[in-house]
Amino acid sequence: MKNKQLKVPFFLPYVDNFDISEIKKIASSTFLTNGPKLEEFESQFKKFTNSKYAVGVSNATSALHISLNALGVSKNDEVIVPDLTFAATANAVLQTGATPVIADIDENTLNISPTSILKNITKKTKAIIPVHFAGVPCDMAKIKKISNDHSLKIIEDCAHAIGSYLDKIHVGNFGETGCFSFYPTKNLTTIEGGMIITNNKKIANFAKLIRNHGLTRTLMNRYSSGKPWEYDIKNIGYNYRLDELRSALGLSQLKKLKILNKKRLNIFQYYNSKLIDIPGLILPSETDYLKSSCHLYVLRVTHEAKITRNELFKHLQKNGIGSTVHYKPLHELSLFKKKALHRDQLKSSKTIYDEILSLPMYPQLSKTNQNYVIKHIRNKL
Ligand SMILES: Cc1ncc(COP(=O)(O)O)c(C=O)c1O
Repeated sequence: MKNKQLKVPFFLPYVDNFDISEIKKIASSTFLTNGPKLEEFESQFKKFTNSKYAVGVSNATSALHISLNALGVSKNDEVIVPDLTFAATANAVLQTGATPVIADIDENTLNISPTSILKNITKKTKAIIPVHFAGVPCDMAKIKKISNDHSLKIIEDCAHAIGSYLDKIHVGNFGETGCFSFYPTKNLTTIEGGMIITNNKKIANFAKLIRNHGLTRTLMNRYSSGKPWEYDIKNIGYNYRLDELRSALGLSQLKKLKILNKKRLNIFQYYNSKLIDIPGLILPSETDYLKSSCHLYVLRVTHEAKITRNELFKHLQKNGIGSTVHYKPLHELSLFKKKALHRDQLKSSKTIYDEILSLPMYPQLSKTNQNYVIKHIRNKL
């Protein structure tokens, strides 16, 4: 069933008339990429996350790839990633020639398990990529301790986590870098887009170079002063730029992000209040979500429930309600069966893969539609 045919789609991007007018204003400007809007977006993003540097890029996968490059990760290295994540987290590792090593998750938070990280460390391990799944911050105190004890780098995958805080510190500030996605399903969208935050000047400068073919001068800089053709290239670079239209959209979205995330939290709390008494369902923890961007609402349909997760999915779909599973774990995908390793049994991710279901969660989800979803869950369970 197509998204638009559903009565309650699983996701809807939030782009309003104000966003569209901001994009239109930029569409006829001189510098359509790597220009002043990008600088403004970076500067506001840096303020929002309270980080020293922010570098706009084409998506979160390129943000991860640049971060791994900046830390010198390459062939013969290993990088630890959680089993429960989108493939991009591990793909970025493969892009450097290194091997992704898959760790199990913590069943309560669905985030990477620090105990499993420890089981996967070898002499080849260079970095860990914790993913703040659904927006819930990982246990960064434990992960930082492991990284310090074993001299490992941390790259935070914050694709789900814009507006997630741990002890009032925005996620992405605990590791060497934090990598954000602005894909249409995310809390802030630029359609395609991403951002790296870091508190390390060297990494920020490296990221600015490598996102633009390694050129030592940007388009705006070259055509504003001196000889436009005068630049150097010292490192292999990529085209990982974020253009001006997307930057204008990002800026406009950032202005309302706190309000939109608050609406998500209300939706989260309403689901929890109405589903709490159903036997066999495990609901996400409110304590965890109070710190989070509330990117996804993921419940677990355990074997004690009246029906299985797959039956619930089908029942919702039959009634015009979109839902999905985040994610098919990495160890189930052919690419990672061949190219990744794991030294732990992945017991928790195997168990929860059959149980998890993500329900509709977006700021414009109406109470009527949310009640409709709840009614159809209750009448089967
Ligand atoms: C956890 C996670 N990491 C990385 C990515 C990659 O983001 P992008 O599509 O912006 O490259 C995604 C996107 O869905 C994601 O969910």
